[in-house]
Order: sequence, then C-alpha cells, then structure tokens
Amino acid sequence: MASFFRSFGFNFILVVLILAIAGKSNALGYTHPIFRPGPWRLAHATFYGDESASETMGGACGYGNLFSNGYGTDTAALSSTLFNNGYACGTCYQIKCYNSPHCYKYVPFTTVTATNLCPPNWSQDSNNGGWCNPPRAHFDMSKPAFMKIGAWKAGIVPVLFRRVPCIKPGGIRFAFQGNGYWLLVYVMNVAGGGDIASMWVKGTRTGWISMSHNWGASYQAFATLGGQALSFKIQSYSTKETIIAYNVAPANWNVGLTYKSNVNFH
Ligand SMILES: *[C@@H]1O[C@H](CO)[C@@H](O)[C@H](O)[C@H]1NC(C)=O
Repeated sequence: MASFFRSFGFNFILVVLILAIAGKSNALGYTHPIFRPGPWRLAHATFYGDESASETMGGACGYGNLFSNGYGTDTAALSSTLFNNGYACGTCYQIKCYNSPHCYKYVPFTTVTATNLCPPNWSQDSNNGGWCNPPRAHFDMSKPAFMKIGAWKAGIVPVLFRRVPCIKPGGIRFAFQGNGYWLLVYVMNVAGGGDIASMWVKGTRTGWISMSHNWGASYQAFATLGGQALSFKIQSYSTKETIIAYNVAPANWNVGLTYKSNVNFH
C-alpha cells in the first residue's frame, strides 16, 4: 500500500511537471497550446510603396490604418499561395535576406505581420515581374521592412522565412461594421499563431451563432444582435485552441467602433 502511494505520488509529480513543461497551465490545469516557429523555407521578397508605407494601409486583410491598429510598418503582402484566402491574415514571419550581394550581412532577420494580398498578375512572367503568381511563395514587404534586411535598389532578393508566434500586447480586438441585423467583425491584434479558423458570436439573448468568413480577417453573422452585449468565441487556425472573450461589446455597441478583449492566444 505504501509503495502504491509512493508511486502514485511520483506519477502525480511527473504529470504536473509534464503539464508545466508542455505549456502555461492555469489554476484548473488547462493547458494552452503554444504556437511554435515553423521550419525555414525559401521564397523571394520585393517591396511596395515608399518609405512612409502609406500604400500598405487598407490592405486585403481589412486592418485599415496599420499605425492606429498596432501593426505599424513591419508588414507584408503575401502571394496567394501563402495568403490562403485570407486565413493567413495576421500571421507573423521572420524574413532573412539570403544569398544576394544586396543583403545586409549583419542583420539576422526582420519580423513582419501579414496584412495584405499580393495578387497574381498573369500578364507578367512568373520569373520576371509576376513574382506573386502561384505557386510562388512571395513577400511583397513594406519598403521600411524590406530596407531592414537589404538594399532597396536590389528590387527583389531571395529570402528564407519561417512562421513565428505573433507578439501582440493585450487582448484580441474586434472592429465592428454592418448594422443591427448584420454584424461584420474585423479581428485584430491576434497573438500566437495570429490566425483564425472559426468564430462565433453570442448576444445576451441568443446562443452561440456561427460566423462565416467574409474576407481577409473579417467574419460575419446575419443575426439581430442590436441592443445586446456581445461575446465572441474564437478558434485559432494554427493551434486549434478555442478561447472565449466574454461581453467584449456592451449592449449599446455601435458599428465603426473597436472593442478590446482581455484574452489572446499564445
Ligand atoms: C500587370 O502587369 C502589366 C504588365 O507589366 C501591367 O501593365 C499591369 O498594370 C499589371 N497589373 C496590375 C494589376 O498590377
């Protein structure tokens, strides 16, 4: 009996240790999956816009003004192969200039968030101007981001890139559009994998309503939600973790406003 308890105690300590190592666990022992960097892969990078990065505002992810929404100038437009119909919006990448005399030698990499689509242009050859044509993996970076890793005069450089966790301060933010019967939500400031697979909304007088992917980083629900406090359930595309942001918007919510939650992925 004593040895049973001893081994039980030992196993218990082992389980606690494994949980602690596997990830951040809260008081209930629930373990948050943590997004880990992916392997380095080969691609190319160009840049668009000028040093003000004003051309990068209002990209296909729908983040609008990248300065006021926290993305800044460290952003890139992804070729459609990487963009994944907008599911890659918000994902983060380390990009390293590779094997070109235009690379800055002592810069290991720079980090960008995907905020836009670089569309294909089939009137240009995929190896001569049509850099974003499928199946090419391509980053059309903001000029300030490109200038951190290489000389802009290069125009295009080979790069090595890998997915990395997004470091975002605070919780996920929800920018509202639509009306009392159609809620369109742009999801911003997503940490961890940075991406979203599915989303649900719940008013104080409704159950969980599944939202459909609209475009970029926006999700929509055709439901009467006006006058109700709103909660959101969000599933990470990368880690499949689902988190709930309770009562993010008060009953008098309005379109054109952004609501902050205090939850995020890791
Ligand atoms: C596609 O490439 C052609 C040829 O260079 C150019 O004239 C055109 O503006 C490009 N289209 C877009 C949408 O960029």
